[in-house]
Order: sequence, then structure tokens, then C-alpha cells
Amino acid sequence: MNIVPLSQQLIPAVERLIELGLPYVRLRTNSDYWLYATLFSTTCRVALVDDTVVGVVVAFRSQDDPSELYVQDVMTHPGHRQRGIARSLVSAVRDQAIHWGCRRLYLTSEPDNAAAHNAWLSLGFVNVPGDHKEGDVSVISNYKGPGKDRAVYELLVGSR
Ligand SMILES: CC(C)(COP(=O)(O)OP(=O)(O)OC[C@H]1O[C@@H](n2cnc3c(N)ncnc32)[C@H](O)[C@@H]1OP(=O)(O)O)[C@@H](O)C(=O)NCCC(=O)NCCS
Repeated sequence: MNIVPLSQQLIPAVERLIELGLPYVRLRTNSDYWLYATLFSTTCRVALVDDTVVGVVVAFRSQDDPSELYVQDVMTHPGHRQRGIARSLVSAVRDQAIHWGCRRLYLTSEPDNAAAHNAWLSLGFVNVPGDHKEGDVSVISNYKGPGKDRAVYELLVGSR
């Protein structure tokens, strides 16, 4: 597996991959992917197996708080799951966060996304305590706006 920065040439294949992500990951507009590849390729990475796109992570360093890095989307092709692709993608972003001296990686999941919950915990993230629980998952009400409850996960990273 190779982890490479998102580039303009890879966008069509990334879009085809993301189309398989429902209900938890949704395709954004072509202009969004242009933006990610043009301004954020350091933290928007693609996983390739035999030159085929099998995974993607979309993440950004915060301009408001540069010690934080937000992971917006992680997606592995259904035929390649549980083979360490998300681990490799998030690890690449974490290494970059450490390189920049960031303090925290964080992301959100929908509370019923059990695969994601298990993956984030396996990757060392902590489920941030919320105001209620759905099963084992701690959830913050209205985190992303009215009615948009989210489970929030964070990984603290050391600066070097
Ligand atoms: C969540 C997702 C990104 C995980 O990707 P993946 O490439 O299969 O994950 P990895 O193989 O790197 O696994 C990382 C860890 O998570 C665990 N894990 C992954 N999927 C799991 C599942 N369905 N059940 C239990 N554990 C799981 C793995 O066992 C591994 O832990 P380990 O190394 O200790 O064994 C993938 O299921 C996916 O693309 N889902 C659809 C899109 C989505 O929901 N994205 C997240 C939105 S927030």
C-alpha cells in the first residue's frame, strides 16, 4: 500500500470511492476536492493498492487554533476494509500533526457508526464525554448544529 497526497489526477477515482460511503460519508462537490488537492494535500491523503485508490482521509489543520487538526472524512473501499488502510491514513495525518507541533487530532462520527467507533478506539482515539450515551458511545447533542448530534473522538499527540 502507498499513501500519497491527494492530487488533481486522483480526484475522479476518489469521488468514485466516496460514492460507496453512504450512509456515513457523502460525496462533496468537485470544487471541494479541487480545494483539498490544491490547498490541503499535506493532510488529504490517498491510499493506493496496485495503483488503485482504496482509501482516503480528508483532514485540515485549524487556522483558528493551529494546535488542532480536524479529520473530516475517512473512507476505505468496502472490499479492502479491516486490512489497516484507515490506520495507515490516520497515521500519516498524525505524523504530520506531530511534525507541525500540533497537540490534538479530532473527528466526529454519527453515533450509530459502530465500525468507525471501534476503529477510532483501536487507533488510540478517546470518545470525548458528551451529554448522553447511545449504547457504549458518548454523544454531544447538537454538536454540528441543531439536531446534529455527534460522537466526538480525540487523539492527543506530543510535539517534538
Ligand atoms: C471506519 C472505516 C474507515 C475503517 O477503515 P478500515 O480501513 O477498515 O480500518 P483499519 O483496517 O485500518 O482498522 C483500524 C482498526 O479499527 C478496527 N476496525 C475497523 N473496522 C472495524 C469493524 N467493522 N469492527 C470492529 N473493529 C474494526 C480494526 O480491527 C483495527 O484495529 P486493530 O488494528 O486493533 O485490529 C471503514 O469501515 C469505512 O470506510 N467505513 C465507511 C465510511 C465511514 O463510516 N467512515 C468514517 C466516518 S466518521
